[in-house]
Amino acid sequence: MARRPIIAGNWKMNNNKAAAKELMEGIVNGVKSLDADLMPEVVVAPTFTALWQVQDCIKNEPKIALAAQNVNPNESGAYTGEVSLDMLADFDVKFVIIGHSERRQMFNESDEFINEKAKAILAKGLIPIICCGETLEQREQGVTDAHLASQITKAFEGISASDAAKSVIAYEPIWAIGTGKSCDAVEANRTIGEIRKVIAKLYSADVADKIRILYGGSVKPSTIVEQMAQSEIDGGLIGGASLKADSFVELIKGAMPVSV
Ligand code: 13P
Repeated sequence: MARRPIIAGNWKMNNNKAAAKELMEGIVNGVKSLDADLMPEVVVAPTFTALWQVQDCIKNEPKIALAAQNVNPNESGAYTGEVSLDMLADFDVKFVIIGHSERRQMFNESDEFINEKAKAILAKGLIPIICCGETLEQREQGVTDAHLASQITKAFEGISASDAAKSVIAYEPIWAIGTGKSCDAVEANRTIGEIRKVIAKLYSADVADKIRILYGGSVKPSTIVEQMAQSEIDGGLIGGASLKADSFVELIKGAMPVSV
């Protein structure tokens, strides 16, 4: 069965309540006329403080799903500044982004912590979007595939095959994030194919065939069609280009089978 593509907007630390409202109204308006059966799964990940606002904007728009940008895997307690899964359950959050390179690099998040988050998210019936990616140095040293295999193997430790099959992976080469320089689509496809092989080895060909693997890193309306034409790429995790309604809607259209 064909994997349903995903177009996910990671707003990062952008958009207060008013800006979130304006952006969401533009996106909701832009998807109104699109055929739901042909659309990718559309996901929006605002900051925690804008979750209510975004949820309110999409309450009558089932074509758009809500995601959180992070979660703490502990149930509750003395974790100043953190947000639990129980708190996310106050919202219609379906996905949670974890393992983003910005959190790995700036907040020292380890593979083990990301694995804890993945298990906690799945235990609550939500879907983790597990990010992985290499630095420019690693790519130049030729260790990209080994690095990604290690990140993926550690992220999926102790996760069942059925939970793995419903999870989402986002391959985001760090050198392509926010740089305007997207990874060449053919090379992104090859790399994602390697990630799929890791999943096949950890689980089975069936799980590898089901799991959706996105590409992220300077995805733009001008790159999406070529990216979506690749057999291994199941969609995009998008930063900058998800912050404008016009470009995000263009990305959604670019992930549809016929030009609309
Ligand atoms: P950009 O699309 O801004 O490069 O960001 C990608 C990203 O990090 C999405 O999580």
